[in-house]
Amino acid sequence: HDIQQDPWKQAAGEAAAQLVENDMVIGLGTGSTANFLIQALARRIQAGLHIVGAIPSSETSKTLASNLGIPITTLDEHQEIDLCIDGADEIDPQLQLIKGGGGALLREKIVATASRRFVVIADESKLVERLGLHFPVPVEVIPFAATPVRRQLEALGASVQLRQHEGKVFISENHNLIFDCSFPQGISNPAELDAHMQQIVGVVETGLFLHMAQSAIVAGPTGVKTISP
Ligand code: A5P
Repeated sequence: HDIQQDPWKQAAGEAAAQLVENDMVIGLGTGSTANFLIQALARRIQAGLHIVGAIPSSETSKTLASNLGIPITTLDEHQEIDLCIDGADEIDPQLQLIKGGGGALLREKIVATASRRFVVIADESKLVERLGLHFPVPVEVIPFAATPVRRQLEALGASVQLRQHEGKVFISENHNLIFDCSFPQGISNPAELDAHMQQIVGVVETGLFLHMAQSAIVAGPTGVKTISP
């Protein structure tokens, strides 16, 4: 990731850690910004904060959190999460998001949807006027359906790239493929696009997180601010 944004990611993560209260169940996001949150939350727990447990949205976040002493729980034990905090790749003025740059979108969406409150954290380079101009929409796809799904995504106007990692096909933690779907003109109607993508059999989830975030904590050279739609 872009190391230059690290101080702002850290500031956003630390501000979000202050939202955690005693006896909460917390949803933990994935990515470099979420990592700063996890570190800040661990420090608060060391200083005496008591949480019921954290539900991580990836194995990476789970390992980091448990290594730092954060108690881990699951959706089987706790169906309702009090607060979920996660990063994003793009944030529009309505707080509609593109997520999944790290490939964890499916579990991230499961954790976010199980949460009473979802707060997105980011450096201000993630703020955009219109989704899709700079970042593709990641779509998680069942490998068996790869070719028919690709054709149907292309029919929706996407230019489709199978995600690779270190020279190999990227496989998600759920053993699926990720198609990065670019829309060079941006996405004029995210809800309509999401509905069309979700209708394709073999699509498991999309990285469009629409009307899910209640607020965004965004940091930049002028400080940390909270944005509501
Ligand atoms: C992970 O799958 C993503 O949704 C991340 O939340 C997103 O890519 C933001 O990552 P950074 O915080 O590393 O920029």
